[in-house]
Amino acid sequence: MDVKSIAVIGGGTMGSGIALTAATHGFDTTLIDISEEQLQRASGYHAKQLARSVEKGRMSQEDADAATSRLSYAASMTDASGSDWAVEAVTENPETKKAIFKEMCEAFGETVVLATNTSSISISDLASAVPEAADRVIGMHFFNPVPVMKLVEVIKGRETSEETTRRTMELARAMGKTPVPANDSAGFVSNRVLMPMINEAFFAWQDGVAEAEDVDEIMKLGCAFPMGPLRLADYIGLDVCRDIMMVMYEGLGDEKYLPCPRLVELVEAGHLGDKSGRGVYDHKA
Ligand code: CAA
Repeated sequence: MDVKSIAVIGGGTMGSGIALTAATHGFDTTLIDISEEQLQRASGYHAKQLARSVEKGRMSQEDADAATSRLSYAASMTDASGSDWAVEAVTENPETKKAIFKEMCEAFGETVVLATNTSSISISDLASAVPEAADRVIGMHFFNPVPVMKLVEVIKGRETSEETTRRTMELARAMGKTPVPANDSAGFVSNRVLMPMINEAFFAWQDGVAEAEDVDEIMKLGCAFPMGPLRLADYIGLDVCRDIMMVMYEGLGDEKYLPCPRLVELVEAGHLGDKSGRGVYDHKA
């Protein structure tokens, strides 16, 4: 593996999970975010997870210390411009991501892969922001919680080179993940299948088929899901779910992907799930 160092752009849940996974798999990792508060939260999460891994006997104290020493935090991409690989995990908004791609293209070297952790936005569309580097743009879709979930969905855009794809599969394996390819279609495979199920759970709840807890209990006990679909929606973020559904509705041109009114109402009320303390469920207690 020729990659030794990784820059992760965006210190939210996904970015901090990707950074922790990279560092525990031997990569010098820089987590970049313009928000100092976000970086502090990420560093607290890293310390807590590493301590838990030692406590649980999954990792030696020496390995946890080594992972800590491989992690650094920076406010700007230029502070990590020598990195061998870059992956962005900023807000799921095409314009924000395109602006980040332009910055990545300027900040990192000419052979550095510019990966995106987008969960639904077209890779070719994002690559159009950096035509000179479009062969190095690829989707590397991780799942939350990143240190636990085994999958990386790997998505090639129109211009992505075979070499970029091969190296991405190799890097995902070196990070302890199983890469699985999917084509560049809105929502890829994971969210094309997951989001309609989550949406249908909202409709079932809205239509009074069952209480939220019972919708979840039925799917947990009857279909062996670790979390019911409504609980999972809170965990993912209700705003994120709505945004992904809208990307699929617009990209695939089918009304079946339109978010359920009850989901939209909760988002509009600021009840976004775990991150805001309230969503389908109250998480404050
Ligand atoms: N970071 C690191 N490790 C974590 C973690 C986190 N944020 N959250 C949980 N874990 C670890 C814990 O350390 C624990 O391991 P140990 O017991 O060995 O210490 C293990 O995961 C299990 O955690 P818990 O005992 O706290 O709780 P649990 O058994 O209920 O599992 C869960 C929690 C792993 C989140 C499980 O409920 C689960 O798999 N849920 C479904 C998650 C899922 O579907 N994710 C995909 C969402 S879709 C997405 O991400 C992509 C998208 O585009 C929207």
